[in-house]
Amino acid sequence: MSDGPRRYYTTPIYYASGEPHLGHAYTTILTDVLARFDRQDGREVLFLTGTDEHGQKIQDEANKRGVAPIELCDTMAERFAGAWERLGISHDRFIRTTEAEHKAVVTAFLQRLWDRDQIYEGTYSGWYCVSDERYWTEKDVGDDRTCQVCGKPVVHVEEKNYFFRMSAYQAALVEHIEHNPDWIVPDIRRNEILGFLRQPLGDLSISRPKSRVSWGIDLPFDSGHVAYVWVDALINYLTASGAIVPEAPPGEQGFEETSGSWWPADMHVIGKDILTTHAVYWPTLLMGVGLAVPRRILAHGWWVVGDTKMSKSLGNVVDPLALRDDFGTDAVRWYLMREMPTGGDASYTPERFLTRYDELSNVLGNLASRATSMIVKYRDGAVPHAAGSGLAGAIGQTLETVRDSMARWRIHDALGAAMDLARTANGYVEERQPWAQAKDPAGGDDLDETLATLARCLCVLCALFQPVTPSKMDELAARLGLDGVPRLDESTGIPLAGRRVSIGDPLFPRVEPAWAARSES
Ligand code: MSP
Repeated sequence: MSDGPRRYYTTPIYYASGEPHLGHAYTTILTDVLARFDRQDGREVLFLTGTDEHGQKIQDEANKRGVAPIELCDTMAERFAGAWERLGISHDRFIRTTEAEHKAVVTAFLQRLWDRDQIYEGTYSGWYCVSDERYWTEKDVGDDRTCQVCGKPVVHVEEKNYFFRMSAYQAALVEHIEHNPDWIVPDIRRNEILGFLRQPLGDLSISRPKSRVSWGIDLPFDSGHVAYVWVDALINYLTASGAIVPEAPPGEQGFEETSGSWWPADMHVIGKDILTTHAVYWPTLLMGVGLAVPRRILAHGWWVVGDTKMSKSLGNVVDPLALRDDFGTDAVRWYLMREMPTGGDASYTPERFLTRYDELSNVLGNLASRATSMIVKYRDGAVPHAAGSGLAGAIGQTLETVRDSMARWRIHDALGAAMDLARTANGYVEERQPWAQAKDPAGGDDLDETLATLARCLCVLCALFQPVTPSKMDELAARLGLDGVPRLDESTGIPLAGRRVSIGDPLFPRVEPAWAARSES
């Protein structure tokens, strides 16, 4: 991660063959939270997401539906973009691999590999999983001939392919990982890749004969073949960075000099299922063209149902948009970010969803509602002129924990600490008993201090929760009489005395969709 003022974050680009589900939403929201946190800290951010639109999987799905591949891609790209809008995603660029700009960058990239003698022609004989678009060895597929990742049957292929000399970069990659302990986060994933790299690394097939797959980008040096979809897809990160200028003469295309562009990416956020492609194929391909590798890869875990990965092909997906229609965008974001320890797996259950929602409603929502109501009731809606330092210690400690957790990409811990501050503030209300202070003729100053403290705490909470619950925090900022959600570093000092506070509907109202009928106990 650069310490500079700019950061470039990416999500994987999603296959345009199926609808967005909770797993996709998780990756995208996680990246969104990181991007928003950085923007709120005053950094300029490029946040990229998009759709992966070439390859056999898309070609087969389009055939199945009886539409042209591009029609399927147009539909699905719109579906993903629409889902991201409804889930409050603040991406700066939505890339589609069928865009002319991307095709030109892929072409320039492959030509560059070819010119540097990084590619040779050979024959591939082995197993292929169409669903994951991956080759597997005899050992990988076992006796039942199924894919290691998705469990679906694999097919045998034997064909002419072009190969990238990936094996030549094995030593350089191992050295890079060993010298950069935080390059792959969390550690368990880093160790997994180091373990994988203890075996000899083969070369990488980077093409498919058009006789088998025609839906792809032509190889510039053999129009009978298209680029392997993973190579095509990974290059999207480079396309959006602006590092390569395909129409410029070779040598001036940006392969040597990338200043001014967003490359290298500060962080690729991915799921653990696509770690090898990102931590082995991608960096070695970049080494092959002479470009810097990304600064960091964050591999998160899987959302599972029972003990099975949630996936379209397994037919057990949860629709994030349906949850959002019942509980609102911010509740879905909060649940996903708070429930899954960043990097680990988590199981989706409706009960846990409700428990997490109750936290928003009973702790944060309740604090906001009681603090604003009391300022309106006891001080005619104006934040009192008082130090408001009653929770300064807790606030200081929380900010430290949040910053520390975010710096280690433990988003769930950062959010847990923020919610604990709201809990502490509710405890402060109980302890101070402002309703009793209001009755006490000598309690005026104490009441002022209580209310000013609560206003300060809400102001800080507003900044802390903004990356994960942005629209509700906009509402809260408005109720506190602020011009907008304050920056985190300003939230402890921004003047509050005299601001006009207002009361509104509960921020997180009680919701009872049929599936969420709570048992009375
Ligand atoms: N198209 C490739 C990525 C190319 S990136 C250059 C791809 N697409 S995908 O649509 O299958 O899924 C992308 C990502 O969605 C996964 O890596 C993972 O981040 C996320 N998830 C899909 N299912 C998931 C879960 N059940 N749980 C958590 N995340 C999951 O792979």
